[in-house]
Amino acid sequence: ESEAHIHDVDFSFEGPFGKFDQFQLQRGLQVYTEVCSACHGMKFVPIRTIGDAGGPGLPEDQVRAFASNWEVWDPELRDTRTALANDHFPESALPNAPDLSLMAKARAGFHGPFGLGINQFVKGIGGPEYITNLLTAYTGETTEMAGTTLYENPVFASGYIAMTPPLSEDIVEYADGTPATVEQMAEDVSAFLMWAAEPKMMARKQAGFVGVTFLALLAVLLYLTNKRLWAPHK
Ligand code: HEM
Repeated sequence: ESEAHIHDVDFSFEGPFGKFDQFQLQRGLQVYTEVCSACHGMKFVPIRTIGDAGGPGLPEDQVRAFASNWEVWDPELRDTRTALANDHFPESALPNAPDLSLMAKARAGFHGPFGLGINQFVKGIGGPEYITNLLTAYTGETTEMAGTTLYENPVFASGYIAMTPPLSEDIVEYADGTPATVEQMAEDVSAFLMWAAEPKMMARKQAGFVGVTFLALLAVLLYLTNKRLWAPHK
């Protein structure tokens, strides 16, 4: 395992009341579409979900227009056709590029110390941080192995990754005018991939909060009941 230091990112969706930043998700969707999707797929994510409230929240006509940019394989036609909003994002175009649907939950940015997981308790699991750091950690060095070029990247476990550095300054032009620095694009696409992997995060946090509140209340009531019940026998 590599010992690269992963820098923490203050994502808007962290903490018990954190929420996805709709505009960041839209920027991340743009980076995914214009850069990552050249090689990677996201086959578990239905295209229509980019219209969901709490996600990128695109209006319906934009979701439909967005879908029509993609070609998907239709097993009934035995052919590819233009995607509809109900289709999923296409699979990886490059066979050795892993599907990114669940990548933000498949990787961890923080570990230890000594296997205790205290860093994860404090900072979170760090899946999106791992992706942000991976995308920005290229040293510029390369090596050849069995006929393929590998790019030195200390965040990747083996130290050398088969993915060319995908981001360079201004490779996308953000519609909202945000400067497209490498760090900015890396954070935006990481936030987007976190949403893709866990679109119901906000609902889960809310349900958890309600549950904990109820249990706390119940604990107080049970304590008082218990005292009252046993009071005559003391
Ligand atoms: C691997 C993200 C663009 C080709 C990966 C991994 C992530 C990732 C998270 C997995 C690393 C791991 O296993 O820990 C992204 C993002 C992109 C992007 C967010 C857009 C900003 C691209 C592009 C290409 C590409 C454009 C092709 C030119 C690959 C390949 C791998 C990979 C071949 C496997 C690397 C290996 O196992 O050595 N990518 N990627 N990626 N990506 Fe990308």
